[in-house]
Amino acid sequence: VSVKPITTFGVAASARYYAPFANLDELKALLDHQGDAPLMVLGGGSNVLFTRDFEGLVLHNGITGIETIAEDTEYVYVRAGGGENWHGFVLHCVANGFAGVENLSLIPGSVGASPMQNIGAYGVEIKDVFHELEAFHIRERRLDTFTLEDCRFGYRESVFKNVYKGQYVITSVTYRLRKTPRFHTEYGAIREELARMGVQELSIGAISQAVINIRSSKLPDWREVGNAGSFFKNPQVPMEHYATLKAAHPSIVAFPQDAGMKLAAGWLIEQCGWKGFRRGDAGCYPKQALVLVNYGGATGGEIFALSSEIIASVEEKFGVTLEREVNVV
Ligand code: EPU
Repeated sequence: VSVKPITTFGVAASARYYAPFANLDELKALLDHQGDAPLMVLGGGSNVLFTRDFEGLVLHNGITGIETIAEDTEYVYVRAGGGENWHGFVLHCVANGFAGVENLSLIPGSVGASPMQNIGAYGVEIKDVFHELEAFHIRERRLDTFTLEDCRFGYRESVFKNVYKGQYVITSVTYRLRKTPRFHTEYGAIREELARMGVQELSIGAISQAVINIRSSKLPDWREVGNAGSFFKNPQVPMEHYATLKAAHPSIVAFPQDAGMKLAAGWLIEQCGWKGFRRGDAGCYPKQALVLVNYGGATGGEIFALSSEIIASVEEKFGVTLEREVNVV
């Protein structure tokens, strides 16, 4: 089975078996038939790069449904199936006046993948709106509930990316959304876009639209140019290291984070001359250097090789080691 149509990078690769599931019973039945073939669960396929064929079973989460399950004076609790499209869920919230996810508009991928790497953009992360999730333990055939604390969210991190990697299928996520919005406009690009749009009175709809406009202008649409969003994480460095970098490169872009500084990896990559670079069909996106792209016929190996060269040159010029954010198979 070709994975090209089910992943946003659009590289040619295949999986031995592929099976979608629409509910927990179908998932259980598939797992019972799986034998000892290796297993991989895909949601939107928007954060993965295949560099080889996969000799196992690719499961596609197709659990849908969005429902409000509880509310109190301040919040509504909305549960969504892991296979729901993330942006579709955001639009549902915006249409119903549920506030909290509007800054996360237009992020590709699924609801089930959203807590996996604690997706974030424009000043908001999943952890800010997360209530709890249900996940099925593959080997032990058990449905577990994870609270906010259980997930141990960090910057593009959760337990599902490290200690429990590959062990769970996230079947549903419950978000806690505000009845009265708290707008997050600290990100400069949002304020500029709202002004450009002529927005007089803030609303979650206006913020959602501003984010959609920013993302559409900066980030490639995977339907046109294959990509998986940011290919690398923004690296964090201790204050002393930052001070040295800042002295040598006064225009460096960085944001305070915990005890140190988070550097804009896009800036580091651009400074090394990669922005707009293209070899064959593998490239570094001209409008956002943090995004690697497939112009059509690139192989996963070619994109991976390019990412290794980028890591090496950023390391050499700045002494900072970039870490891939995309899952590499
Ligand atoms: N920059 C450059 N050159 C570039 C790209 C960026 O100099 O080619 C500098 C600019 O100064 C810019 C700054 O870096 O102002 C930050 O860039 P941007 O606002 O585009 O955000 P980012 O740090 O590159 C992160 C997330 C994105 C998220 C945006 C907005 C990560 C790995 N990426 O990117 O998330 O949309 O912030 O909040 O943290 C994703 O994870 O796939 C993703 C797209």
